[in-house]
Amino acid sequence: MNISIVGTGYVGLVTGTTLAELGNTVFCVDIDENKVERMKQGIVPIYEPGLEEMFLRNIQAKRLFFTTDIKEALDQSDVIYLALPTPPGGDGSADLSFVLSVANQIGEMITSYKVIVNKSTVPVGTADKVRAVISSKTDIPFDVVSNPEFLREGFAVKDSMNPSRVVVGSSSEKAKEIMAKIYQPFTNTGVPIIFMDEKSSELTKYAANSFLAVKITFMNEIANYCEKVGADVDKVRLGMGSDDRIGHRFLFPGIGYGGSCFPKDVKALIKSGHDEDFTFKILEATEEVNKKQKVILVDEIEKYFGTLKGKKIAMWGLAFKANTDDIREASSLDNIEILLEKGAQIVAYDAIAEDNVKKIVGDKIAYAPDMYTALEGADCLLIATEWSEFKNPNFELMAEKLNNKVIFDGRNMFSMEQVEDTGFYYKSIGRKTIG
Ligand code: UDX
Repeated sequence: MNISIVGTGYVGLVTGTTLAELGNTVFCVDIDENKVERMKQGIVPIYEPGLEEMFLRNIQAKRLFFTTDIKEALDQSDVIYLALPTPPGGDGSADLSFVLSVANQIGEMITSYKVIVNKSTVPVGTADKVRAVISSKTDIPFDVVSNPEFLREGFAVKDSMNPSRVVVGSSSEKAKEIMAKIYQPFTNTGVPIIFMDEKSSELTKYAANSFLAVKITFMNEIANYCEKVGADVDKVRLGMGSDDRIGHRFLFPGIGYGGSCFPKDVKALIKSGHDEDFTFKILEATEEVNKKQKVILVDEIEKYFGTLKGKKIAMWGLAFKANTDDIREASSLDNIEILLEKGAQIVAYDAIAEDNVKKIVGDKIAYAPDMYTALEGADCLLIATEWSEFKNPNFELMAEKLNNKVIFDGRNMFSMEQVEDTGFYYKSIGRKTIG
């Protein structure tokens, strides 16, 4: 099948590359000339494990093309995926201007039947809006389908090549057949394809992400309560997760969730609710708890030292989670802001996300070339991202470099046994404090 992907951001690029890998001819369209030029030269604009290899393979196989010319791509395609940004507007609702403006162009340009597939996370009712915009411009038949993406950053290639399910919202039999054909390589291997109406499909994405945000936040509250009563969240987590109705995943407490999806989607669902005179009480509470959770260790650091003024904090990890350079809504940024406000200095280390943080924070903080250099002359260590390289550090070397043997661990990187005999003061989330 010939497919256009409009928008080569994170979702667009991974989806386009995956669809090419499945044997389709894919035209990726973007307005950013520079980016398109670089992609043509085989440069992947995002960091995602495994993507570059698949990207280059499909360029070489002449299944993956890049262009700024949307008309050229549309003319050659049966199916058009929209993978455009839907940033939160001022009131928290998803801004649909990019999606609707491309819908407008599609309406003006198409000359034969097309299936328009919405991959972006969009509020319930967006398929209807896209349909209305296109049909205001053309009499050519077309269908609009909702096909939300569930991929995780850092595992995007794995997730998109091994999806847990494919959700397709469509009221057209013809479009459903075409979508079934595109995803046949998956369904052949037992991946379920779940057909539903457009609105249910659009809501599925928000409901799934919001549920996971609630799950994490619930666990963060349990962790905070564990500290009050002297329970160990690691034990509670294992005990709870063994019930397969609950499951072990997404029960890891820490300094809050971030990223490009959870915060935005929770906010947008709350806002969509308000538009219908409906209050998602559980989501409002989730947002509030998460906001506090992100900086919960700042109070602890302040308590430990009495003041943060003049204290030098080493920070390990800046990305919102491991295996990505993404720093959107990262807890590290909230911590940096408050720590600086309170007069602390920060030396941060994150090999992958440093450049992105530099663009925002600049030289308000210092950056270290490796994890141990970051500790030199620092008063304590704060861990903000769970990068694997932090999992088994040389505690003796850490003690040599740091002014004080003090660790605040926002991601529960170490087991109690690992730290117990090192002489470090160790404060993590939902577990007893050592030292
Ligand atoms: C998420 C969804 O998982 C994905 O399906 C969706 O389509 C996009 O949003 P992503 O944002 O890439 O993916 O990250 P994910 O791995 O889900 O983690 C989200 C946040 O939750 C991170 O900040 C992570 O650190 C935090 N988290 C996750 C926890 O604090 N505890 C956990 O147990 C799991």
